[in-house]
Amino acid sequence: MFNKLKQRWRVNELQLLLIISTFALGGSLCGYLGKKILSFTDLEKGILWVGIYIILVSLLWPICVLLISIPFGQFNFFKNYLVKIGQRITGKNHPATRIAIFASGAGSNAHKIIETFKSSSSVKIALIVCNKKGAGVLSIAAKEKIPTLLIEKKRFYEGDAYLQELSRHQIDFIVLAGFLWQVPLALISQYPNNIINIHPALLPKYGGKGMYGAKVHEAVIAANEKESGITIHYVDEIYDHGNIIFQGTCRVDENDTPEILAQKIHILEHRHYPEVIARLLQIPK
Ligand code: GAR
Repeated sequence: MFNKLKQRWRVNELQLLLIISTFALGGSLCGYLGKKILSFTDLEKGILWVGIYIILVSLLWPICVLLISIPFGQFNFFKNYLVKIGQRITGKNHPATRIAIFASGAGSNAHKIIETFKSSSSVKIALIVCNKKGAGVLSIAAKEKIPTLLIEKKRFYEGDAYLQELSRHQIDFIVLAGFLWQVPLALISQYPNNIINIHPALLPKYGGKGMYGAKVHEAVIAANEKESGITIHYVDEIYDHGNIIFQGTCRVDENDTPEILAQKIHILEHRHYPEVIARLLQIPK
């Protein structure tokens, strides 16, 4: 049950403990305050008392959990939790799916995805995660006023894989767009089937560690392939390996250089990656 909650709320063990403690203490506090307030009235303990007590407790509960969540460092979680409950009660639109784009380079795919969903009410590009200072994708994020997170190897692989930040930004779905680090298991297990990657070749060929960008195109040309393309796939614990969602192809002509092939591949990527994301999330663009 605890594992299910961890996955559902996308939190680690410590955060889960703090959240459960906040629920328990917030619940007790509002129960206590409800009784205290009613003790100042001359209502007899009966059906009316119970009715008013229930209404009072329902009103006090959000305030109490929010208050208790502050010293527990879980204010953002409970603020978002209450907003979601409010949206359910009032029948307001389903909240937008919040995407984090992980990218290490120029960010042309990230840019295309941002552009595509800019005016969507169903998808929000909520965070750009990058492992390289000065990467082009960071300037794109700054221009588009999208928050960024610069990550470092040690915490990504040996720490909490930045789950706290992802949870603070309420990330539902992760899109790798030219992200060259392997995704740690800690992250994969918190986002089962919710992390996808794009690879600039027709997997399973020309994939794996060290196979990225120009290196892929050089290998394709060196092998005299007549066709190359793109693969969009779910991310699992093995490099360039998860279930394939989509493949698109292009011709490799005799005189193609790695740069020319890269251009053809980029055209395919820009056309199909946003489309596939929209399809997976069942969202009209
Ligand atoms: C893209 O072609 C993507 O397929 C590739 O990096 C490029 C990033 O370009 N990814 C890999 O090679 C992953 N193995 P961009 O920064 O312009 O989007």
